[in-house]
Amino acid sequence: MRKPVIAGNWKLFKTISESVALVDALKPIVDKTRSVEIVVAPVFTALSRVSEAIAGSNINLSAQNCFWEEEGAFTGEVAPKLLKDVGCSYVIIGHSERRQYFGDTDLSVNKKVKAAVSADLTPIVCVGETLAERESGSTFTVIEAQVKNSLTGIPAEVVARLIIAYEPVWAIGTGKTASDEQAQEVHLFIRELVARLFSPGAADKVRILYGGSVKPDNVKGLMAQPDIDGALVGGASLKADSFASIVNYAAS
Ligand code: 13P
Repeated sequence: MRKPVIAGNWKLFKTISESVALVDALKPIVDKTRSVEIVVAPVFTALSRVSEAIAGSNINLSAQNCFWEEEGAFTGEVAPKLLKDVGCSYVIIGHSERRQYFGDTDLSVNKKVKAAVSADLTPIVCVGETLAERESGSTFTVIEAQVKNSLTGIPAEVVARLIIAYEPVWAIGTGKTASDEQAQEVHLFIRELVARLFSPGAADKVRILYGGSVKPDNVKGLMAQPDIDGALVGGASLKADSFASIVNYAAS
């Protein structure tokens, strides 16, 4: 059985004190939740204080990006081992916003995933097609290339422990979520691809999250799909009550 993961990607929102206030509000509403892995991804500057605020709770910490080298003359970058040092156990890699605005490519994503795994972090590797790609019928070709190139050279037993997030770019921040069937179709495609490229065992274990306008009122239908193992939530993760409703989707 794959344990569901509900992860909140806070993107470039919230000061340190706002971030701590959010997890302080979240903790008591999700503290009974055992069946779901709960993850929050604040901005870099808030990681240290959020890490202290969630110590001993069932909330886990993620960063939103990392570099692939351990140290050196790389002004402005943050190494995976430093994320581990601040209390992260996850790191989001290759989010479409990073691919669109900051030059992340499948090649850099691949290096970052390898470095994150070496530092004992669980990468949340993002893939997803644009609207133009979907409309031209190339969704599966695009997803196949992203998964293949982002995970190249990674052993099957490591792939089994990764998290892949399918985030159709046209559904991010638009309020236009993929239908349950549209999402399931791509998730199944990714799982079968992992089976083909790595091993059936890795495909069975790897968790595939859906992201793109996940809200309290659509999470249940998405989570009912056999190959959707969780959600990567943007906007709705910025408020404790809406994120908690998504975390506790099974109870609603
Ligand atoms: P929204 O939930 O705001 O659409 O963002 C999704 C996302 O990009 C999560 O990484």
